[in-house]
Amino acid sequence: MKLTSDELRKKWINFFKDRGHTPISSASLIPENDPTVLFTTAGMHPLVPYLLGQPHPAGKRLCDTQKCVRTGDIDEVGDASHCTFFEMLGNWSLGDYFKDEMVPWSYEFLTERLGLDPDRLAVTVFEGDDDCPRDEHTAALWEKCGIKRENIFYLGKKHNWWGPAGQTGPCGPDTEMFFDTGKPKCCDTCSPACDCGKYVEVWNDVFMQFNKNADGTFSPLKQKNVDTGMGLERALMNVQGLSSVYDTDVFTPIVKKIEELSGRKMSDADAVRAIRVVADHVRTATFIIGDERGVTPSNVDQGYILRRLLRRAIRFGSTIGLKSGDYSKIANVVVDKYAEAYPELAAARDKIAFEIDEEQTRFERTLENGIKEFEKLCKYIQGDTINGKSAFRLYDTYGFPLEMTVEMAKERGFKVDVDGFNARFEEHRNLSHAGAEQRFKGGLADTGELTARLHTATHLMHRALKEVLGDEGVNQRGSNITPERLRFDFSFARAMTPDEVKAVEDKVNEAIKADVEITCEEMTVDEAKAAGAVGLFASKYGEKVKVYTMGEYSKEICGGPHANRTGELGHFKILKEQSSSAGVRRIKAVLE
Ligand code: SER
Repeated sequence: MKLTSDELRKKWINFFKDRGHTPISSASLIPENDPTVLFTTAGMHPLVPYLLGQPHPAGKRLCDTQKCVRTGDIDEVGDASHCTFFEMLGNWSLGDYFKDEMVPWSYEFLTERLGLDPDRLAVTVFEGDDDCPRDEHTAALWEKCGIKRENIFYLGKKHNWWGPAGQTGPCGPDTEMFFDTGKPKCCDTCSPACDCGKYVEVWNDVFMQFNKNADGTFSPLKQKNVDTGMGLERALMNVQGLSSVYDTDVFTPIVKKIEELSGRKMSDADAVRAIRVVADHVRTATFIIGDERGVTPSNVDQGYILRRLLRRAIRFGSTIGLKSGDYSKIANVVVDKYAEAYPELAAARDKIAFEIDEEQTRFERTLENGIKEFEKLCKYIQGDTINGKSAFRLYDTYGFPLEMTVEMAKERGFKVDVDGFNARFEEHRNLSHAGAEQRFKGGLADTGELTARLHTATHLMHRALKEVLGDEGVNQRGSNITPERLRFDFSFARAMTPDEVKAVEDKVNEAIKADVEITCEEMTVDEAKAAGAVGLFASKYGEKVKVYTMGEYSKEICGGPHANRTGELGHFKILKEQSSSAGVRRIKAVLE
């Protein structure tokens, strides 16, 4: 079947609209008020509070295409199917329909809308354990639809359980759908659980009915939800019978541009990996910079991931002859390709090109310093081997890829202790993984009272900052809340004076003292803006959003949750006001 990405998105939305779902716009790639993850990694992620029982302004049946970034498999990028950015098509029942509806709909969509041959579909269901019974019900539903019994596989938690996304939060057994490529079974027990390549995953329906608690136990959720996710790129690849996601229409214009600029071809075995890496990384970088909450390259958090993606793209690009200025041209093609589906990219076109060119210049400068460092190293080398520690320093401090160090060493007749480098690399990776796990500690769904109060304080402070420093110059750039403190980034050109800090504290404490009620209304984004609410929201479908009002003190578009009255907050205190990046200030504050 010939199916383009635009058609697939439309088919998806229309199919679920016909079944009573409200389409919602993709949330930002950068989660707000969620200290646990750097990027939105799944369609369900922005919906966690609603899966836990909060009513969603758009209703109980939702569908969307969500922008996602996952960098865990970055080293795999370059093969046929790994991407750091992808779109997840999703639909949700928030305590509404369940398995009886979802399984037949899944079958109908796959066979009738996507035209997949029912005999080439395989499904997996949960085999059952102490936490949750064997899912015979779902298996029976599949069989009734027409899936052959031998194509229904029962698997354990490792394969058929989804979530939580952090250490705690909503999760449940799932049923996954696979496309059988027709390759022979690799062994007698060959199933979708093995990675021999016979079965390719297309869709995942999660029956989200448990909350995983901090002590590892599972308790039933207030409501039974359905959460499904289909990766757009992989679905296109399967439907079109292609062997790589880079051959689908989302990538073809990007790949063509890279071929044109480099003079190398995808059909050239030596160039294919580099072309794919550049295509993937530049696409992801374009989405991160062009996001409605876009960030720029830096040494922390999302900015650091962005930096690594761009530098990795540049390094791979240099092996196929890409030059300065080429990467922003490639990004321009990404913007063109997605202009309709994600209008925020077109709005940020110039910024995207500028940031990519800037980062390239900075990287070139670092490379120069790295080369100097390398020359020094060669001068003082003992024996004929550059040790792992030095090679890692070149990598870590100067962004020097190991392959480059090895190559340059070879030119001078030296070797590199690659094992030593790898040992350092692993050590470092484990450390940063430990860091990443820390981030997940609070769980995705930290809806505790302390967090809610700090969230309310953030709104009050945002407004106070605008009053004290001027409405025009002050805009929110980021927010990160833990039960202990709030952290707020905003645009402002200089450091605040002690008087200004005090004035902001006083204003917030005045609002707390006034003890006004916090109210929440639902309206469209246009109505919210007309009512004077601040807040970012890229609304494609004109869907409803929540607006929180705190008396005269604040009005913002926000998902919540918040305190009931400002009086619950106690005393507000700013601990630190400092620079975050060029033109952006960062405040850390607490309630005491
Ligand atoms: N949350 C599930 C996934 O990411 C289904 O949307 O696969």
